Amino acid sequence: MNLDLQRYPRLFLGGTHTPLEYLPRLTKLLGGPSLFIKREDCSRLATGGNKTRKLEFLLGDAQRQGADTIVTSGATQSNHARQTAAAAAKMGFQCTVVLEARVPSMEPHYSSSGNALLDKVLGASIVSAPSGADIPALVEEVAQRLRDAGRSPYVIPAGGSNVIGTLGFVECAGEILAQTAELQVSPDHLVVASGSAGTHAGLLVGLDALGSSCAISGISVGAPTSLQANKVGHLAAAVCRELELPVENIPGQVRVDDEFIGPGYGLPTAAVREAIDLMARHEGILLDPVYTGKSMAALISYVRSGRFSKDENVIFVHTGGSAALFGYELFLSRPH
Ligand SMILES: Cc1ncc(COP(=O)(O)O)c(C=O)c1O
Repeated sequence: MNLDLQRYPRLFLGGTHTPLEYLPRLTKLLGGPSLFIKREDCSRLATGGNKTRKLEFLLGDAQRQGADTIVTSGATQSNHARQTAAAAAKMGFQCTVVLEARVPSMEPHYSSSGNALLDKVLGASIVSAPSGADIPALVEEVAQRLRDAGRSPYVIPAGGSNVIGTLGFVECAGEILAQTAELQVSPDHLVVASGSAGTHAGLLVGLDALGSSCAISGISVGAPTSLQANKVGHLAAAVCRELELPVENIPGQVRVDDEFIGPGYGLPTAAVREAIDLMARHEGILLDPVYTGKSMAALISYVRSGRFSKDENVIFVHTGGSAALFGYELFLSRPH
């Protein structure tokens, strides 16, 4: 099946054609299956990340609607907010980000460095909200204020994970299959962080539509398994309906693991520290403490516990986020 997304308006932000690479040193170190990495962290937007693909479709829709200002939300160290600020700047929109102090961080630079700093550098207006605030209501309030001032806001949900944004990862599935075919590698398993769910859901829909039997493990970064699986399943089904694809196969393929969350969203664990250090020191690749540290901790644990056979090919989807490292200085400099 050919997934034709041409009918959707789109602004090109450099989100596609990210590299897919072999991880020779990590593969050898762990002594398990062949490990590959899909470098969504290398998208070409202000330190990169998985939101760039979503934003190509979301900003295309914003432009079609005649918007002049983008409004979105996230946690203080939101990668989504930073990439949205960058995308808006590149395409000439104004941007307001509503940032919730969701993470009870003791880090001295958590609120002032990393993504929080880059949002300012990228020219976004920032509205700060306390933990537990009604963020959708606050976003709507901001949008209304903008309308009252004569502007045309376009609201992007947290993480960019609505049907339109998720199309970016439906397309990414095709890219992964083309790249693995070129490498003459048959992909058996993807491991990906699962948050607002668009990345996980889009890959699921895309792989299924293209007839791939590659399984996906979504590593939850905050929500319990059943809740996260529901979120992924609902979004994937909505995307299938939008693209007129069969929905029946989806529920049986939603796999979520909440074992690696630790104390909560944005709060890293010893396994995250090990994952960050291993990838940095064996492959020269930066992970992040909130998403990819947890998804790589899961992958490492799966390999060590023998979940994959040695002749399988496992792809780690690096969804970006390394800018957040600068908000976690204490955690990263603590001796092991
Ligand atoms: C670095 C990084 N990885 C993974 C995710 C999760 O992706 P999704 O929200 O599509 O589930 C995010 C979301 O913010 C992210 O910033």
